[in-house]
Amino acid sequence: MVGYGVQNRDMNCFRDQILSFDSRVPRYTSYPTAPQFQVADTYAYEKCLRAIGADNDISLYIHVPFCSKMCWYCGCNTKITQRYAPVEDYAHILLREIDMVAEQLQHNPRISSIHFGGGSPGLLRACDFEMIINKLRARLNVVPDVEIAIELDPRGVTEGRVATYAKCGVNRVSLGVQDFDETVLKAINRQQPFALSYDAVALLRQYGIDQINVDVMYGLPHQNLETQSKTFEKLVLLKPSRISFFGYAHVPWMKKHMRLIDENTLPQKDLRFDLFEAGQAFLIENGYVPIGIDHFALPDDALVKAMENKTLKRNFQGYVDDPADMIIGLGASSIGKTDTHYFQNAVDMPSYKQAILGGRLATAKSCAIQQDDMIRAKVIEQLMCYFTVDVQVVCDGFGTDASMFDQELERLKSYERLGFIEITGAQITIDEKAKLIARMICSVFDAYIKKGTDADAPRHAKAI
Ligand SMILES: C[S@@+](CC[C@H](N)C(=O)[O-])C[C@H]1O[C@@H](n2cnc3c(N)ncnc32)[C@H](O)[C@@H]1O
Ligand code: SF4
Repeated sequence: MVGYGVQNRDMNCFRDQILSFDSRVPRYTSYPTAPQFQVADTYAYEKCLRAIGADNDISLYIHVPFCSKMCWYCGCNTKITQRYAPVEDYAHILLREIDMVAEQLQHNPRISSIHFGGGSPGLLRACDFEMIINKLRARLNVVPDVEIAIELDPRGVTEGRVATYAKCGVNRVSLGVQDFDETVLKAINRQQPFALSYDAVALLRQYGIDQINVDVMYGLPHQNLETQSKTFEKLVLLKPSRISFFGYAHVPWMKKHMRLIDENTLPQKDLRFDLFEAGQAFLIENGYVPIGIDHFALPDDALVKAMENKTLKRNFQGYVDDPADMIIGLGASSIGKTDTHYFQNAVDMPSYKQAILGGRLATAKSCAIQQDDMIRAKVIEQLMCYFTVDVQVVCDGFGTDASMFDQELERLKSYERLGFIEITGAQITIDEKAKLIARMICSVFDAYIKKGTDADAPRHAKAI
């Protein structure tokens, strides 16, 4: 299926082959992936923070795990609250955590980007958001041209908040839209008419925040090509500089509220495939450049430049052009990364709060990154970002022999025979049409899947 037009017979055959390969694999927003993280104390984290040098760029991720209403498809780490008190309380705990992290950072590294994610960080009242930003600027070396991004639910966008975001230096916003079709929205418990998103975008632009991403999804209940086509016609009217086009990951065994979605209304995988292909074709026709497996950006957007300059990265926030190699996570469940480790804060609120209020960092899990992990991470990241990698070049960069991937190259031959990938020497290139299964091709390089130590293997969402 190309655009919302006529089905092509060759594509049909290719589609059937791809669908037959669909299986449960990680999303590869990190490698090693989160199931490899082990229970940890704060000692190693403090040591890593103290070792960060003055010449390092740091990206801060601040997680705000509250929402006012549960979307039934939601896979994020969040809790529903009707009261503001827990959010306000949390904002003050974040201030303490910022102080504690600042005390560990001995060399004043540069903070080049700050990302508020959730949950719904837009629930923070303007005064509390400003208080957090002021604390960050007071305690950390936030660079003058810092990127400050926030994920916003259009239902909570108010002029008072937007004015504060602009005053605080927010220069990028990601809006959760998902779909504009009323039947789809009803089935996911998210009433959000088009006008609401349209007004939110207009308000943000009025206050000078014009770097706008919109999240939409395929695979939601009742979606079909017709409903999606209408949604996408409206979507491009918003003219977002970026669009994230996520496949709905239905994992009711992990997120109980997903059981509220009637599974009979979910598109089957052949329709999911068509929805992605049609949506992608529509966005390309409307001037968007595909980035990685599920992002699209206008040609003058920094993600497109990063793709051209080969500086595109993939991390827990998706595809980024951030110069920072290290991430410091703040808030419950946030994940950080230094050059040697991943660290994750306690996921459950009582443990997170107890740690911070007790004067301890809230580290609950960590994962030491070995040289083998770094090499595989590079291969996987290049495939996820550019759909091509020369494993010889990657291995040369680490002073190792590419023969470490002999078995992987052998296993990839089954994909090559079907035309999903091309292997020339040590160069592997994923065919444009097979990008929906890029994660599966990456999983061939995942040593933990090979060793059978990916405890979550049966629990990941399917690739398509
Ligand atoms: C933290 S939310 C965005 C901000 C805000 N909470 C909102 O929903 O408007 C992050 C995004 O993740 C995506 N998402 C959430 N659950 C998902 C799932 N189960 N499968 C795929 N994408 C999902 C949605 O597109 C959502 O907009
Ligand atoms: S999708 Fe966004 S608004 Fe909806 S429950 Fe999840 S985090 Fe909250």
